[in-house]
Amino acid sequence: MSIKNICCIGAGYVGGPTMAIIAQQCPHIKVTVVDLNEKRIADWNDDNLDNLPVFEPGLDAIVKEARGRNLFFSTEVDKAIDEAEMIFISVNTPTKTYGKGKGMAADLKYIELCARQIARVSKQNKIVVEKSTLPVRTASAIKSILDHTGNDVKFEILSNPEFLAEGTAVTDLLKPDRVLIGGDTTPEGDMAAKALVDIYANWVPKERILTTNVWSSELSKLTANAFLAQRVSSINAMSEICEETGADVNEVSKAIGMDSRIGSKFLKASVGFGGSCFQKDIFNLVYIAKSYGLNEVADYWEQVILMNEYQKERFTNKLITTLYNTVSDKKITFFGWAFKKDTNDTRESAAIKVADNLLNEQAKISVYDPKVKVNQIYADLDYLKTRTSAENKALLTVESDPYVACENSHSIAILTEWDEFKTYDWQKIYDHMLKPAVVFDGRSLLERKKLEEIGFIYYSIGSGITGN
Ligand SMILES: NC(=O)c1ccc[n+]([C@@H]2O[C@H](COP(=O)([O-])OP(=O)(O)OC[C@H]3O[C@@H](n4cnc5c(N)ncnc54)[C@H](O)[C@@H]3O)[C@@H](O)[C@H]2O)c1
Repeated sequence: MSIKNICCIGAGYVGGPTMAIIAQQCPHIKVTVVDLNEKRIADWNDDNLDNLPVFEPGLDAIVKEARGRNLFFSTEVDKAIDEAEMIFISVNTPTKTYGKGKGMAADLKYIELCARQIARVSKQNKIVVEKSTLPVRTASAIKSILDHTGNDVKFEILSNPEFLAEGTAVTDLLKPDRVLIGGDTTPEGDMAAKALVDIYANWVPKERILTTNVWSSELSKLTANAFLAQRVSSINAMSEICEETGADVNEVSKAIGMDSRIGSKFLKASVGFGGSCFQKDIFNLVYIAKSYGLNEVADYWEQVILMNEYQKERFTNKLITTLYNTVSDKKITFFGWAFKKDTNDTRESAAIKVADNLLNEQAKISVYDPKVKVNQIYADLDYLKTRTSAENKALLTVESDPYVACENSHSIAILTEWDEFKTYDWQKIYDHMLKPAVVFDGRSLLERKKLEEIGFIYYSIGSGITGN
């Protein structure tokens, strides 16, 4: 079966970039990305490519090439579902904030809504692809909804989890380590999986396209994120031992990363991982383990999250101690608000937690981030509900010039590893700060020697503070 028409439900950080690449690589396939969020769709259709809702290096050029040719963004969900032979579900699957499983389980209400909508609208057989990250065995729930509420058309469900990382999405999608496709082990399931393999085979070498059963595919995505996050928490745990003993975590991580059994990636100590996925996917895994009575397994993975929370607290506490145990009324500059460089995504960003802690101590914060918009920063704080919006605005300002953000500041906290921070005139920054001027580097981004020569007191996670 050759697919000519694809619909993707959900125009977010996954739906937008993945479909842009499929459209670019497969000009013979019409790809329509739909979303309930009208503003998001309008932004995807904006002539000014700076206004695309997702910032990813290289994405604007791909959208420019394919949009209007065979890539379309629309709010007409029913129409797109009706016309497509293959429907990707790329909607959000956040942690539940209510009821059973609150704070742990994945909230599948958006997935279920999609399934019901697909069932209601479809008049011909369809292949439904789970692109969202889902608890293992979700495909059977989707299948049950489709089969029981549909118009007697046949549905095949595939799991095709997305492994892209924000900030490098375009490269990850163009040259994936692997594409994973899980399907039913029936002739119909095999045919559906083959149809999806054929799409990816337009640009991905065949040996990198793995097919498995549905459950292995669903569980592999949760496992991948748990393993990646676990490496970060492991090196972060070592960072505190380094600070106590005089070892340097950057040297330790280089030394162990050269061991081919360990490898060098995801061994950078930091103020903590963020992003919409790691925490929610590990909680999801913990919840699944608990629901099968596997309490030791659940506790093991939960510790990865606890370590991450601890690292953010530890960073804030160390900053407060260094500023003579009080930050009340002191200006502290944040370099970075996004959860990592090269993205405008702020979900679960470490900066939010550190800001919340410091605002509780009545610090005045001035934020500079190259890509995150002012409204997003205030929305992130308002969401915490620790203070009112007016209180946050009185204490936290957002600057568009990094040098202005540092004027008369007591300390700079580096919370995102944006490359541009390395290129700044740090002497000029020092000259305009209050003394002693303290840099708290939560990303081990800057050169200690250079900053100390200028006169800064410099702290970096896992290699300690000037003078110790
Ligand atoms: N962000 C990542 O880096 C990443 C990577 C791999 C996998 N994932 C997974 O992909 C999924 C999507 O993540 P995201 O970051 O793109 O989320 P997102 O919040 O950026 O986008 C989801 C979109 O779905 C839309 N939506 C929700 N319900 C809808 C409905 N019924 N009809 C139409 N539109 C609807 C929302 O309006 C939103 O725009 C999640 O399961 C996530 O875990 C994310």
